[in-house]
Amino acid sequence: MSNRLNTTPNDLRAFWMPFTANRQFKKEPRLFVGAKDMYYTTHDGRQVLDGTAGLWCVNAGHCRPKITEAIREQAGELDYAPAFQLGHPKAFELANRLVDIAPEGMNHVFYTNSGSESVDTALKIALAYQRVKGEGSRFRLIGRERGYHGINFGGMSVGGIVSNRKMFGTLLTGVDHMPHTHLPAKNAFTKGQPEYGAELADELERIVALHDASTIAAVIVEPVAGSTGVLIPPKGYLQRLREICTKHGILLIFDEVITGFGRLGAPFATQFFDVKPDIITTAKGLTNGVIPMGAVFVTSEIHDAFMTGPEHMIEFMHGYTYSGNPIASAAGLGTLDTYRDEGLLTRAAELAPYWEEKLHSLADCPNVIDIRNIGLIGAIELAPIAGEPTKRAFNAFLKAYESGLLIRTTGDIIALSPPLIITKDEIDELFDKLRKVLVNNI
Ligand SMILES: Cc1ncc(COP(=O)(O)O)c(C=O)c1O
Repeated sequence: MSNRLNTTPNDLRAFWMPFTANRQFKKEPRLFVGAKDMYYTTHDGRQVLDGTAGLWCVNAGHCRPKITEAIREQAGELDYAPAFQLGHPKAFELANRLVDIAPEGMNHVFYTNSGSESVDTALKIALAYQRVKGEGSRFRLIGRERGYHGINFGGMSVGGIVSNRKMFGTLLTGVDHMPHTHLPAKNAFTKGQPEYGAELADELERIVALHDASTIAAVIVEPVAGSTGVLIPPKGYLQRLREICTKHGILLIFDEVITGFGRLGAPFATQFFDVKPDIITTAKGLTNGVIPMGAVFVTSEIHDAFMTGPEHMIEFMHGYTYSGNPIASAAGLGTLDTYRDEGLLTRAAELAPYWEEKLHSLADCPNVIDIRNIGLIGAIELAPIAGEPTKRAFNAFLKAYESGLLIRTTGDIIALSPPLIITKDEIDELFDKLRKVLVNNI
């Protein structure tokens, strides 16, 4: 271990860390120096079970050989190719492979580098599509309270997490929000999809009545809201949203940045819930979190609407220097190979009943006021400490880390989303450790 310790930087001040309590962290640093399969190794030489797939992204587990090898080979063969007006084979190969696992009709992908960029790309595609169709008056975008769509201006505007929005001015104009679907009085401790709340989709009708459908381009929702603390869609809710959007000519965007690539037991939530959006945003699990990459899936109808005008003209004025980057594309192919060879895109369906049982067995722990689950996702909501919101869950996070378990917290909610390779023994280990944290430490 001593050589590992020697690699620990002795000055942590320069790096302003994202979404982190910087002062607390720098007093008590938590550094990972290695990872394999389900476990991280910390700088002080401990093993930490990954209960969150990194940040909902390492779906195939850590340092998987096919992905590592694909990156290594690509870096030595073609490191970078310009993304505009030029290409390289692997970006096309990956797009074809992605379309193969995507819901039927989602035949085209636009590459980005993150979930936030996928969301802003999707919003731009939606606005531009309405315009190329001759419906340029459709400029409004509708999101949902408590939604998380990343941190760029588009995603932040349609998002509904107050603390992420309040510091940043007026955001995009022409945005409205539907209510969130969290109804704890009726649905607390539901296993899987809650019974109550489908009628909340009808709020979209109210918004349409207020603004008129002819001004609305798109509605964006996470099929399962993750970052706000895991809100599972009530039964029938997503179907109802689809019906209302179709009725009014409004595009429906599913933000599948966390639900994409097997999290629920199907490749995408779209297939799991059997509800078809017009656009799907992805990132994270696309490359197993190893290299930044996102992809926006669109129907042929949307893609083809842009393919008009003189052939030498660019059809859609949008893109990133790193869209479809060769090393990211290679990582994506290595990831899809791993998912395919190990059956990971459907494995969550097999594990879900065991996961659900173990998760809900924590209902008797102190301060637990709700437990929610779907696929390989779980959430445990804790009663806040009076006058100190978020502290109880943050304490649990620190204690869990000390005891060799990585959990994620948001507000006073613990969110769990382990790599899809997790075994039943590791599920037992996860919940044994978490029970001790909940019972003894907070
Ligand atoms: C649903 C959703 N959309 C967008 C994002 C933003 O992704 P990124 O952090 O890669 O920009 C996230 C990140 O957690 C997410 O959960």
